[in-house]
Amino acid sequence: MTQSYKIIDHEYDVIVVGAGGAGLRAGFGCAEKGLRTAILSKVFPTRSHTVAAQGGISAALGNMGEDDWRFHFYDTIKGSDWLGDQDAIEYMCREAIPAIIELEHYGVPFSRTAEGKIYQRAFGGMTTHYGKGTAQRTCAAADRTGHAILHTLYSQALKHRAEFFIEYFALDLIMSDDGQCLGVMAWNLDDGTIHRFRAHQTILATGGYGRTYFSCTSAHTCTGDGGGMVLRAGLPLQDMEFIQFHPTGIYGAGCLITEGVRGEGGYLTNSEGERFMERYAPSAKDLASRDVVSRAMTLEIREGRGVGSKKDHIHLNLMHLDPDIIHSRLPGIAESARIFAGVDVTREPIPVLPTCHYNMGGIPTNFMTEVISPTRKDPNAVVPGLMAIGEAACVSVHGANRLGSNSLLDLVVFGRAAAIRAAETVRPGAPHRPMQSDDGSKSLARLDRLRFAKGSTTTAVLRDQMQRTMQDHAAVFRTGDVLDEGVAKIDACYQARADLCVTDRSMIFNTDLVETLELDNLLAQAVVSLHSCANRQESRGAHAREDYPERDDQNWMKHTLIRLNEDGRTEIGYRPVILHTLTDDVEAVPPKARVY
Ligand code: FUM
Repeated sequence: MTQSYKIIDHEYDVIVVGAGGAGLRAGFGCAEKGLRTAILSKVFPTRSHTVAAQGGISAALGNMGEDDWRFHFYDTIKGSDWLGDQDAIEYMCREAIPAIIELEHYGVPFSRTAEGKIYQRAFGGMTTHYGKGTAQRTCAAADRTGHAILHTLYSQALKHRAEFFIEYFALDLIMSDDGQCLGVMAWNLDDGTIHRFRAHQTILATGGYGRTYFSCTSAHTCTGDGGGMVLRAGLPLQDMEFIQFHPTGIYGAGCLITEGVRGEGGYLTNSEGERFMERYAPSAKDLASRDVVSRAMTLEIREGRGVGSKKDHIHLNLMHLDPDIIHSRLPGIAESARIFAGVDVTREPIPVLPTCHYNMGGIPTNFMTEVISPTRKDPNAVVPGLMAIGEAACVSVHGANRLGSNSLLDLVVFGRAAAIRAAETVRPGAPHRPMQSDDGSKSLARLDRLRFAKGSTTTAVLRDQMQRTMQDHAAVFRTGDVLDEGVAKIDACYQARADLCVTDRSMIFNTDLVETLELDNLLAQAVVSLHSCANRQESRGAHAREDYPERDDQNWMKHTLIRLNEDGRTEIGYRPVILHTLTDDVEAVPPKARVY
C-alpha cells in the first residue's frame, strides 16, 4: 500500500541534520557567515547525546604544566595505531587551542584553577615530549563537560538565528543522477507531515550507531541515521570494524564512568586487589589508551581474576581520593554510581566492565568535512553537496582507536571547519538545481514499506537479535570463527527485515515507526561492521584479532571502505591512510610499535 503524501518544500543554503555538538557548531557557524541555515533534529537539541559527555575536551593549553599541540598530534596518531589521517590530525590538534578559547568566550562554564585558568586533567594516552611525560590536557567542566558545551552551543545557534526543525526525523538523502546531494526528506514527528529540504550543502551530524550493541554508553537515540542514509544512497562507510569499548561502563547498567576518574587518581583492581594495569602498561598504567585497558580487563576476567560472585567484572577505586575532589570534580559519577550500582564512591569501589562507547568508523570525509566516495581514478573524490561531521563521520582523526576527550574536540573543530568550507563553496541564495530521477518518492515508498509492514517479527525482537549478535561476535577480542558466525547471523537479521510487523500506522508521534526506521539504519551498519571485522586480518587499535595478533602495516595500513547493496550484499574496497602533514610545522610520525 502506498499513501500519497502532501510534501512541504523548503529551500535553504545549508541544512544540518543533527543538533548535537557538531551539528550546532556547524549550524550557527553557517548562519553567522550569512548562509540561510536549517538545523533538523529528531530530539530537542539539548537532549542530543553530546549532553552525556563527561570527562572533558582536549587541547594543549598548558594550563597545568608544559604542553604543545605537537605532543597532542603525536599522541593522537599513536592512539589511532597509525590508521588516522595525519593531515586531519594536525588540523584538529592545532585548531584545538583556538577552539577552546572560542568556547570559553561563548560562555562554557569550565572548572578553574586557583589562578582562574581553565582546569585540565590527565586522560589516557595523553603525554608530553612524545610519550615521555603525562600531559594534563583535558579541559573539564567538572564531569559534565558535554552538558556545558551543548547548552552553550545551543544558545549560540539561537543567537545567530539558525532555523530549527525540532522532532523532524530525516529519512533519506535526495541525490541527483550525477551523484550530487540535493537535500533530504524528513518526517515531522509531531504533526505527521512530510518535508523536502533542498540545500546546496547537506551536513550530516547524526552521531554514532552505538545502539547496534546490547550494552553501550550511547543514548537510545544513537542509531546512526546519517550512516544509514549514506549506505542507502549507494555511498561507502569507512573503517566500520573499529568500535571502541570504554573500560569503565557500570557493570550491568552500561552507564559511563568517566576516564576522568582515573585522571584524578582512581585505579582498577582485580579480585586479588592487584593494580593489574602496572603489568600491561608499565608506564601509563591506568591511563593507557582505552583499547589497551579494555583488553587488559578482559584478560583479567578470562584468567579468573574478575570480581563479584561470577568473577565477571573489575573494580574501579576512588575511595582514597579527597572527598572534596570528588565533590568538585566528579559529582556526576558519584551520583551515577549511587543510582546505578548502589555504591558510595567514598567507601566502596565501582563495579565496571568494558562497554561499547564510540564508533571510530563512519562517513568518510577529508579534513574539510567533505564526504568522500573514491573512484578508480581518485581515492579522494568528493560527493558534491554532502558533508559529515562528529561521530557520524570518519575524518579520520581517530583511526583504529580514539583517545578520550578527542571526541568533544572533533565535534567543535570539524563543526567549525564545515561552516568555513560551506561558506567557501555556497553563494547565499543561489538557485537550486532541478531534481532528477530522485525527487524523494523512493524514500516515501520505503517509509510506506515499513509503516505498513505486516510480517510476524516485531521491531523489538529483531533489534534484540541484532544487539546480541554484535555483543557476542564483535567484542573486545575477535577471532575468525566467531566473526564468521556473527556475519551469518547479522545477514540473517538483515533479511528478517522483510518479516517486520509495525502495528501503529499513524503518522503522528508513532514511536513504533520511529524505532523501525532507526532499526533499519542500525541493521545496515551492523552488517557492514561485522563484514568489515571479518575482513580485516590483523590487530590494530580496537580491532583485536586473536587469530591475527599482530599489526600488519605491509598489508593493512589502509582504510576499509564498504558499501551495502539493496539485497544485503557488501562490497569492500580500500583507501590509503594519509601519512603526510598539512604544513611544515610538524613532522609526520612514521609507524612504530605501540607501547604505553
Ligand atoms: O571517559 C569519558 O569521560 C569519556 C570521554 C570521551 O569519550 O571522550
